[in-house]
Amino acid sequence: MSAIRNPFSKTVVGDDEPLCNQKSLLAALMLEARSGNNNVLLAPRRCGKTSLAMRLARDYRAEGGLATYCDLSSVPSADAAADRIATALFASLSVNDKVFTRLSRLVTAFVPVMTMNPDGSFSVSAAASGLAKSGLDRLVSVVSSLDNISSNSKTPLLVIFDEFQDLAMLKDGSHIEAALRSTIQHHKASYLFVGSRRKLLRDMFESPKRAFYRGATTRELPLIEPDEFSHHLVARAGKSGALWPQDIADTLVAIGECHTYSVTAIAHALYESTAPQVPNEDDLAQAVHTALARETSLFTSVYASLTPQSRTLIEALAKESTRQPMSGEYMSRQRLSNAATIKKSLTALINGDHIAKDESGRIYLTDPLLKRWLNSRWSSQQMISMPPIR
Ligand SMILES: Nc1ncnc2c1ncn2[C@@H]1O[C@H](COP(=O)(O)OP(=O)(O)O)[C@@H](O)[C@H]1O
Ligand SMILES: [Mg+2]
Repeated sequence: MSAIRNPFSKTVVGDDEPLCNQKSLLAALMLEARSGNNNVLLAPRRCGKTSLAMRLARDYRAEGGLATYCDLSSVPSADAAADRIATALFASLSVNDKVFTRLSRLVTAFVPVMTMNPDGSFSVSAAASGLAKSGLDRLVSVVSSLDNISSNSKTPLLVIFDEFQDLAMLKDGSHIEAALRSTIQHHKASYLFVGSRRKLLRDMFESPKRAFYRGATTRELPLIEPDEFSHHLVARAGKSGALWPQDIADTLVAIGECHTYSVTAIAHALYESTAPQVPNEDDLAQAVHTALARETSLFTSVYASLTPQSRTLIEALAKESTRQPMSGEYMSRQRLSNAATIKKSLTALINGDHIAKDESGRIYLTDPLLKRWLNSRWSSQQMISMPPIR
């Protein structure tokens, strides 16, 4: 009998696991990749960007194309970025020996280093060849080699840069941006720039002052429709031997506000605590509690990283979302004292993608679990013990 595993993965959706929806976006991005066009994919944190980008890479490879996926999150320097890109590139060329031998030579700033793992498999990394002198030179060189490789391939090379805005946030970010833009400008490769810090990424591609202005088509990753998501949960649980009532799945999706990770994390906890039994509402309430508890260390560090003024504002917004955080009524209800400080905190929270505005201008927290955590953790009602009155 094969071991049953939890069907709700809290990490990126694996190549062999089903994605819920996003079909039209995936089809549009495939067309763009084949045509050598550049795109930006935006969505708040943990909404499914990386899973979608990886699925695009898988499907592009399945039809014979070459695809490179490089995670640039928190990259510390241009040099480190060059290294990550070269390593990702060598890994993507290792689809077969012929491709590797023919194309890896085109990467002049790095040489591939193969290491044999204890289980007999191989890993590839990149060592600087010494031909490029500075970190920025190495980065420009490795990005030019993406074009050389693309020109030597039947279809455009698909290059995915995940959390791309982190590169522009480095100290010498504007130099890096300008150098990359002029290198990428006439490329045959197709780029997908992915990011969660939407304000920063939008500014990079939509501000006339920035090097990447009009360099790509911007697309938002939509949230999955509630019905579709809850049917997906029931189907996934069912395949793994647990019968989930549709109304429990509907409530779960509503609690997670369709936010991809929040829904998945609650589903993960619910499956873990009940399968193969049929879950009920109490089980669901307990699963929400467990999912929140598991996020505590992350949320504590997010909260600690904010300024005291931003903490006050995010707590107010968690209690009550609003279109007008600077209106007198809202400020007095939420005990906020200074409009100028609120303005500053709003910018910081939007840049950090902790909050966003919906189409109606209402400001809300992008992570429904963080909202719940703030509302339950700093509860205004605490148990007190008092001596009995005589
Ligand atoms: N289309 C999808 N269908 C079902 N689950 C998904 C989908 N996309 C992402 N997930 C799940 O959502 C969570 C966040 O996904 P991830 O791709 O890491 O998001 P991001 O890159 O936006 O932070 C993970 O638990 C992942 O398994
Ligand atoms: Mg991601």
